[in-house]
Amino acid sequence: MVEKRTNSPLTGELLVELRRDGAVPLHRQVEAAIRAGIRSGRLPLGSSLPPTRTIAAGLGVSRGVIVEAYQQLTAEGYLTSRAGGYTQVAIGPEPAPPPVRPAPAPRPRIDFGYGRADVSNFPRAAWLRSIRRVLAEAPNERFGYLDGRGAPELHEAICGYLNRVRGTAAHPGDVVICNGYGQGIALVIQVLVAAGARRIAVEDPCADDDARAVARAAGLDVVGVPVDQDGVRVDALDRVDADALVLTPSHQWPTGGVLSAESRAAVLRWAARRDALVIEDDYDAEYRYDRAPVGAIQGLAPDRVVYAGTASKTLAPGLRIGWLVVPRHLVDDVAAAKIIADRGSPVIDQLTFADFLSRGEFDRHLRRMRPVYRRRRDALLAALRERVPDLEPAGVAAGLHLVAWLPPDLDEATVVAASARRGLGVHGVGPYRISSTGPGGLIFGYATLGERTIAEGVDVLAAVVDEVRSHAIRRRGG
Ligand SMILES: Cc1ncc(COP(=O)(O)O)c(C=O)c1O
Repeated sequence: MVEKRTNSPLTGELLVELRRDGAVPLHRQVEAAIRAGIRSGRLPLGSSLPPTRTIAAGLGVSRGVIVEAYQQLTAEGYLTSRAGGYTQVAIGPEPAPPPVRPAPAPRPRIDFGYGRADVSNFPRAAWLRSIRRVLAEAPNERFGYLDGRGAPELHEAICGYLNRVRGTAAHPGDVVICNGYGQGIALVIQVLVAAGARRIAVEDPCADDDARAVARAAGLDVVGVPVDQDGVRVDALDRVDADALVLTPSHQWPTGGVLSAESRAAVLRWAARRDALVIEDDYDAEYRYDRAPVGAIQGLAPDRVVYAGTASKTLAPGLRIGWLVVPRHLVDDVAAAKIIADRGSPVIDQLTFADFLSRGEFDRHLRRMRPVYRRRRDALLAALRERVPDLEPAGVAAGLHLVAWLPPDLDEATVVAASARRGLGVHGVGPYRISSTGPGGLIFGYATLGERTIAEGVDVLAAVVDEVRSHAIRRRGG
């Protein structure tokens, strides 16, 4: 081993595999190994080689063998002798040809990318207090392997929170802690596949990087059920023959519909008829601005619904903390899948979150953030109304994003591309459709942008809309 140090000799070993059959002299083998190490960059420019005595002892050869190898490499310019009697690498590796990669797209100057909480408001001080308490007080056994469901303290705290705020009927024994919704849905799908599931239904449009991607990779058929302004269309569901249905009933992603009480009951009737599982992705339920919160479906049928929650929208996606409330007959299977996946989520984070929840810090954080996000949403709505009034905002009462439907003369992909050219990041709804058709729409995440930036962004959008329209007029020869 050679350490990279430039001002003192090293006492280390050098990895050289010597053949002692006499075919190649030993000093030549040592030379070749060092030369190859220098050329590849494994022995970087400026690093010091161990003293000849040390290497000789490590390789079980006479010191003269190493001296001869060093002298030869010094003569070739690979090594140089320094005052103090130690030897350094004198040249760098041969440069690799530059990789041929397309230039990355420039970051938008104003980015309405969706799905982000404002992590600059992460409650660092309160989180730190919880970490300190956990490190001081957690019993030793918590630092060993836990069962696949996670830390019991967090099961208790999550259930207390969900049953109080989300209207779930959650029991601590039915909770599985996972690394965000992304892992939660993967575990559930794995269990479904093992039980013989063939087809999974998802909302159309919906996110393309969780249930859809995982189900496809697991070999399931994925069918889309169209949504309207009130969430998934239960009349269309009647024709769907699937083993499971993934829903965002409290704030459909991305269109923002809220499933009515009748539709919730209809979904559960469908699931009972088909003996299907409903997976409720309650990703941004905590943010409700101008209407009463709607309870989780899980509370209506805990034996048929997997409830999935995440800290990604409320605290930070980087925490990778999520939770499943699983029908009792599936809990052991999901917990076993979690153990196979990663042997359990990091326990200090789980205990910290449990402490944070049970001391009311989570509620306090949400109380602090709701008006911040609400002001940003209001700024976005006001700017859209004023600057691009023929866009039609939807799904605005909740969450961290909204959709603005485009009038028929504005093509979604054209507006998105023209916005990007002007440094404005905004996504279209179209890429998230499976087979549904409908108007073009833009998804605006507003949670990370200040009100002034939001207004500025909508000004850019207004200019984009003018540009797209005047192009269209010119093309028609008007
Ligand atoms: C629809 C939906 N569900 C859930 C999540 C949260 O995923 P995770 O908990 O893996 O961060 C997101 C994140 O963007 C999302 O868009």
